[in-house]
Amino acid sequence: MSTLLSIFVTLVSLGTIVGCFLLLMWCRNDKMGVEEGQSMGHAFDGIEELNNPLPKWWTYMFLFMIVIGLLYLLAFPGLGNWKGLLGWQSSHQDIRSLAQGKAAAEAAKSNGSAVEYDRELAKADAVYGAKFKELAYQADGKTYKAIEEIAADPEARKVGQRLFLQNCAQCHGSDARGGRGFPNLTDAEWQWGGKPSDIKTTIMNGRQGIMAAWGDILGKDGVKEVASYVLNLSGRKVDMVEAKKGETRFAVCAACHGPDAKGGTAFGAPDLTNTTWLYGGSRQVVEETITHGRHGVMPAWKDILGEDKVQLLASYVYGLSHTGESAQ
Ligand code: HEC
Ligand code: HEC
Repeated sequence: MSTLLSIFVTLVSLGTIVGCFLLLMWCRNDKMGVEEGQSMGHAFDGIEELNNPLPKWWTYMFLFMIVIGLLYLLAFPGLGNWKGLLGWQSSHQDIRSLAQGKAAAEAAKSNGSAVEYDRELAKADAVYGAKFKELAYQADGKTYKAIEEIAADPEARKVGQRLFLQNCAQCHGSDARGGRGFPNLTDAEWQWGGKPSDIKTTIMNGRQGIMAAWGDILGKDGVKEVASYVLNLSGRKVDMVEAKKGETRFAVCAACHGPDAKGGTAFGAPDLTNTTWLYGGSRQVVEETITHGRHGVMPAWKDILGEDKVQLLASYVYGLSHTGESAQ
């Protein structure tokens, strides 16, 4: 945070504690002109208020809390930009890339400063690592079981679902049915291929779907015509004269989407002949896609999760569309 904000936060935090301390002292000393144990001169329904001192145990407890509070602020980050004497961090917050993240985690491990997120990851690996191995590997402990085989194992599927909910659900949904721009993983349509090895490659290395913007090249009318052709492919009623013109223009699209528009897994180009849409199938959205292009990014998980977990995740995802098991 900025220096000014840091000073402000520090002043407010310390000011509150000092304020509490002064209030306590004032309450201890002030007799308000009345002897201890004597009436303050207020009576409510016959009950009089006496000038009683604060109980000693309570006063000491209050002081103790103030000391604990100050020690806490000294040891941990919290006072503006103060990093705390223990060097504790919840996570590597300034990290912008995977490589930086790895370096930071290594550094934290070697100089013994505690980053909560790394600790939890290490703990989870210690507890579950062996289980992941047992579910993913054959009895020899060296070769992976086939993805189809893991997908048929109810226990592995449960573990896969856990991993999916932790790492994938924020984009693909907890039921894996996706959303706008995030593919449904439970259906039969695959941008990048639905074979076990395709799915594993997708998760290991990530994918980038690049559909260029055609607005400038085709012009407004061109976009309209080709959109009519595309919409008609999935059975929509359109102006057939326009669609015919669009069909000729589709030659430039066929490079990726295929001459029959059924898509191509080499470029991650979706099938345009069915009613499954990644971005939406209304005329407006299809024209928007063609005019401005799309660029969907699936992150790579190899370095984040490691191959054992990816093997289980690939099996889980494969199972969602191949064994009739739904995610929930
Ligand atoms: C370089 C390859 C390439 C070319 C050429 C190309 N596309 Fe695409 N198209 C893609 C990819 C990849 C996607 C998926 C984008 C993503 O994953 O974000 C896509 C997505 C689409 C979608 C969205 C589908 C959905 O399910 O929402 C439409 C519609 C579309 N393209 C139409 C066209 C048309 C019409 C043309 C020709 C003018 C064309 N594309 C040319 C690669 C291409
Ligand atoms: C940050 C969002 C995000 C997260 C997190 C994410 N994905 Fe994806 N995933 C995408 C996008 C976007 C695509 C489509 C890429 C494209 O447009 O080509 C995709 C595509 C895929 C595909 C290919 C689908 C196809 O039709 O070929 C699979 C399989 C997949 N993701 C599995 C996973 C798994 C398993 C995880 C968790 C380890 C995961 N994803 C986490 C965004 C995400």
